Amino acid sequence: MIDILNRSQKRGGKESARTVSNPSASPVVSKGADELLGIRPRRRGVADNEYYELKTRIHDRLIDLMDLTLLDSFDEVTLAPQIRRLVEQILRDEENRVPLNLNEREKLFREIQDEVFGLGPLEPFLQDPTVSDILVNNYRQIYVERFGKLEITEARFKDDIHLRKIIDKIVSAVGRRIDESSPMVDARLADGSRVNAIIPPLAMDGSVLSIRRFFRDPLELEDLITLGTMTAEIAEILKGIVKAKLNVLISGGTGSGKTTLLNVLSRFIPNEERIITIEDVAELQLKQDHCVRLETRPPNIEGKGEVTQRDLVRNSLRMRPDRIIVGEVRGQESFDMLQAMNTGHEGSLTTIHANSPRDALMRLETMVAMTGMDIPSEFMRKYISSALDVVIQVARLPDGSRKVMSLQEILRMEGNMITLQQIFCFEQEGIEEDGRILGKFKACGIRPRFTEKFQIMGIPVPQGIFEVREL
Ligand SMILES: Nc1ncnc2c1ncn2[C@@H]1O[C@H](COP(=O)(O)OP(=O)(O)O)[C@@H](O)[C@H]1O
Ligand SMILES: [Mg+2]
Repeated sequence: MIDILNRSQKRGGKESARTVSNPSASPVVSKGADELLGIRPRRRGVADNEYYELKTRIHDRLIDLMDLTLLDSFDEVTLAPQIRRLVEQILRDEENRVPLNLNEREKLFREIQDEVFGLGPLEPFLQDPTVSDILVNNYRQIYVERFGKLEITEARFKDDIHLRKIIDKIVSAVGRRIDESSPMVDARLADGSRVNAIIPPLAMDGSVLSIRRFFRDPLELEDLITLGTMTAEIAEILKGIVKAKLNVLISGGTGSGKTTLLNVLSRFIPNEERIITIEDVAELQLKQDHCVRLETRPPNIEGKGEVTQRDLVRNSLRMRPDRIIVGEVRGQESFDMLQAMNTGHEGSLTTIHANSPRDALMRLETMVAMTGMDIPSEFMRKYISSALDVVIQVARLPDGSRKVMSLQEILRMEGNMITLQQIFCFEQEGIEEDGRILGKFKACGIRPRFTEKFQIMGIPVPQGIFEVREL
């Protein structure tokens, strides 16, 4: 059996005299645990504060006593029973025993384990497959998102110091650090979940942590139809758009489902095409065999070694791509991406943060302008309109549902403006008493130009699908 005490404890320091010299030799708790731990049986729980303080004391003491290097070599299953014994021992040694009932003690054991092996109070949410986002606004306010809806939780950290410890644990695991001089960090958990932490002085009310879960089973097209994000007919057309190698811009707000839709649409890229994906944080989960995934790199602590999306887009052009997928255009890479689209790299897909298709095109223009190139806006718009074929606008509605709000085709310039033509849209008609949004998908009565490409590629266009009607 592994001895989990650290060196100073094994040497029989003063500390250990009062605690256990060998916790593995401590009695197995089988008969009345309360009695064994010298704790009065209690029905009612201890006050919240008392409990948090006790937990911190026990945890601190555990960290003092334990040989922490064991955490690198042994897994939870091996160490947990011993840690439990040690915690029982520490509880027994508590000077002013806080009377815990059985439930509370079980809770304490579980939570201490979560602290030692995981991310403390966040651990239950990380284990819960229905939680898609975990948002810590401050140490005592934690929200989670389930099925598209945010809900406040009972969970909390003891104080900001406790929260900071967990943040440090996350960022140090990926070789980064967070402190006053670099108060913002992106990281990723071992399961692929994306993490952002921001601390004072940038965060005004204490440390903030946002975790976006990574699901092994991402949503598929069928799921999006079931969830009411689009109809089966719209899905057919979107599939055709990808197969016909149109250049697609997916536009929407944060959390509106852009990346999810991009992931779903990428499924329809034929398996023989060579795909290169470029992302700030790799999120896409392509299924094709022939796929190269690239991820940017932030500058190191000395501010060096940064590799931007622009660098990667440029590099990808020398990698003989059939399709380039940029997770989200945010800056200067927009120009290189448009250039690639205009020079025969068809079927490229990307997303952009914008509230409408028109807004998306304007943002793109602004991003290109920021490259510092002196290009007249009319020429720039021409360039954008010839590069892109369609914009798909997605949104997160107040009831938490995600909708394909609009599919618009990008046509030539008219005067100084890019012409957009709406093919499908979602029209909201009301709100149910329970908050659910009512509405219908509609075809707008326009036969898009891109159907010519469908025909050339032999992609069937269902009869009458574009005629004005509900879908
Ligand atoms: N169509 C959808 N219906 C319900 N939930 C969705 C849908 N698309 C995405 N989500 C959920 O919304 C969250 C944000 O999705 P994501 O695609 O990352 O958004 P964005 O890229 O726009 O920020 C994820 O947790 C995801 O599971
Ligand atoms: Mg995204």
